[in-house]
Amino acid sequence: MEQKFQKGKNHGIGVLTSGGDSQGMNAAVRAVVRETLRQGHRCYLIREGYTGLITGNIDQATWEHVANVTHLGGSMIGTSRCDEFRTTDGRKKAAKIMFDRRIFHLIVIGGDGSLMGAQKLKEEWGRFGEELFAEGKITEEVANEGRELHLAGIVGSIDNDCIESDKSIGSDTALHRICEAIDGLVMTAQSHQRVFVVEVMGRHCGYLALTAAIAVEADYVFYPEIPPDDKWPEQLCHQLESVRKYGKRQNVIIIGEGVTNSKGMKIGGKQVKEEIETRLGLEVRIATLGHLQRGGEPTFLDRLLGLRMGHEAVLEVLKTTEDVGSPIAGQKTVAQVMCLRGHNIERNELSRVIRQTETANEEMQQRNYDLACRLRGFGFLDKRTYLNFVSVPLSFTIPEDMKTFAVIHIGSPCAGMNAATFSFTRMANHSGIKVLGIKNGWDGLKNGDVKLLTWENVQGWAQAGGSMLGAKRQLPSELDKIAEGLNTHKVDGLVIIGGFMAFQSALVFQKNRSDYSCLSIPIVVIPATISNNCPGTCMSLGVDTALNEICRQVDNISQNAMGSKNKVMIIETMGSRSGFLATMTALSTGSQFALIRQIETNEDDLYKLAVETKQRLDSGNLDKFLLIRSEGASEKISAITVKMVFDQVMKNKYGVRITNLGYSQLGGHPSCFDRQMGIRMGVRAFEGIVKPDKMGKRDCCVIGLRGSSLRYVPVQGLENKVCFEHGIPLHMWWLKLHPLVEAMTKKPERIST
Ligand code: ADP
Ligand code: F6P
Repeated sequence: MEQKFQKGKNHGIGVLTSGGDSQGMNAAVRAVVRETLRQGHRCYLIREGYTGLITGNIDQATWEHVANVTHLGGSMIGTSRCDEFRTTDGRKKAAKIMFDRRIFHLIVIGGDGSLMGAQKLKEEWGRFGEELFAEGKITEEVANEGRELHLAGIVGSIDNDCIESDKSIGSDTALHRICEAIDGLVMTAQSHQRVFVVEVMGRHCGYLALTAAIAVEADYVFYPEIPPDDKWPEQLCHQLESVRKYGKRQNVIIIGEGVTNSKGMKIGGKQVKEEIETRLGLEVRIATLGHLQRGGEPTFLDRLLGLRMGHEAVLEVLKTTEDVGSPIAGQKTVAQVMCLRGHNIERNELSRVIRQTETANEEMQQRNYDLACRLRGFGFLDKRTYLNFVSVPLSFTIPEDMKTFAVIHIGSPCAGMNAATFSFTRMANHSGIKVLGIKNGWDGLKNGDVKLLTWENVQGWAQAGGSMLGAKRQLPSELDKIAEGLNTHKVDGLVIIGGFMAFQSALVFQKNRSDYSCLSIPIVVIPATISNNCPGTCMSLGVDTALNEICRQVDNISQNAMGSKNKVMIIETMGSRSGFLATMTALSTGSQFALIRQIETNEDDLYKLAVETKQRLDSGNLDKFLLIRSEGASEKISAITVKMVFDQVMKNKYGVRITNLGYSQLGGHPSCFDRQMGIRMGVRAFEGIVKPDKMGKRDCCVIGLRGSSLRYVPVQGLENKVCFEHGIPLHMWWLKLHPLVEAMTKKPERIST
């Protein structure tokens, strides 16, 4: 049943997904629907992309329509490629439907083509309104009411070709699928000593190919932005031969979609296979991953990105509604696209974003490849550069008297620690520098438990979970012995990979430099902890892998709770006293409550929550209740206390269960994000240690992910920005997202079903 239109107050916001589907679209649709309803407006689900807009395949959304969809792949409202929308007539038909349904706010989730279509509709909107009125197809009142189309775009595409956004929804999941598939292929390739040529998607953009190549330690990658020259068969075979000499039993070669040679002729897997078989006599197999890359469940990052972008897009279209003010027809508002920059969602003008993406594609067609690469963004160029270092073997032996750098893992093991060690070692070796791995924490250094890391023996580390060196939770003590260890091994630079204790260790060293000259070496901390409590960075290594694992387990718990009497699930996550993991878990799994130390909850609050939950379960508004408790949330309110309060209220009508996710949360194989971020951080650590000037005046820094870039953040400056008692930074950016847990799951009472 349609709601009554309340002029000026009750807006109709339509949402559609278009083009290739991508994982995370459902999280975005859910956020659009729920935020729209929360704000008291109508929301419309436009089915099958622009096709549904033209044919009027549109349903008014309820809160329940989007229940339990965050974890699902694909698009719950359908998507399509619609040729009719490319025509002016087609778009005018769509406008007529929108005027009829009074949908003057539109949120489009799709790739560059879909967003281009939306921008065209926006540009033509004023004219369509006038024509439809002149043709007698809409009334003057409706024409006036809809004088403006309030449009926002969300980039949903696995290709990640939107220049202004670090990530588009779906690209992380696609990378996850690619890495999973290649990890599997590597095992069989290893047994048979085979070469696998893997074809991946990406249309005109090499992001998937290039990023996957880094994450899986591929030996060669073809991507459209840099067509190989005519000598590529020789170069490729030389590379394969040299890594085989280093003992590698398998090779992976990745070919991005749309790859051509410098003359514009397509290069495909078959051609690559033939070249290798003829020249090297190796056994080659081709694997085309195809649409598997767009399948499966969304990763943590895509769920969170979908949720945040969907929520922001609603705020954006409603904000422009206020901007319009007086009834002037035409282009009063400017459509914006929601873009990810570091950990912030920013807005960028849709028309500009489209122009930039078009320019990059045009430059490629004109064969201005360098420019195209630069237009793809900063990270793209970086990846290109260090891929050469990490995948190409050394052509020389490192002399004995060269510098020595050391790496140590401090704290709990986590994904990404090995990847960072891997790239640091390979970069250092390429510069003729030796790398020592200190095993089992500071005790290892004191006891001489060290291992020479070399280009060969770190092979496979990027994909390995845990800590290959042995991580230990300890601060440096007995500085005399530590100094002796550093002196014995002539350590010229130190990388400490870990969480809060890694930061504290660097601080201890910095403070004792005047007493121990061997501590006056460049020191870099690479943040790696699933608690995400290392100061100086917005994201630590390990977090992404942990959250993907947690999402998987919470999805299972959630599904089983729906079909059982046990409807209240208390799930305990790690994270020490930082509520980061619990908050992110709740957001990405659609859980109803995140109990964290940073937001006070007492027993009375809990009791009220339990009473309210029972009412919601009784009324059928809720099919299960998931409470995520951070392990360090409160000394007074343990998981057992929460259970007791809920048991008391539920009176055995609904069961209450506790699950402690425990050590499994650390995850197994690192996620693609942790692998490539680990590799990036390792490279950055090396650049700072080898040229301390790069780190500024202070050569003891944390590598911080700030915005989209990795910065050197002086350890000393961070001392006043942390709480040592609880081991957390004073400013935690993610706290601003905590209110979304309730906003997205608690239906306001005034909304009827
Ligand atoms: P993506 O959005 O993933 O880039 P497409 O390029 O196939 O996928 O675009 C999806 C849909 O968006 C198209 O089928 C069409 O309906 C619409 N579209 C794409 N390009 C345009 C355009 N230049 N003008 C109007 N509509 C377009
Ligand atoms: O744009 C997303 C994408 O998956 C591209 O990477 C690929 O070229 C294309 O869509 C495949 O389209 P379809 O699903 O129509 O085969």
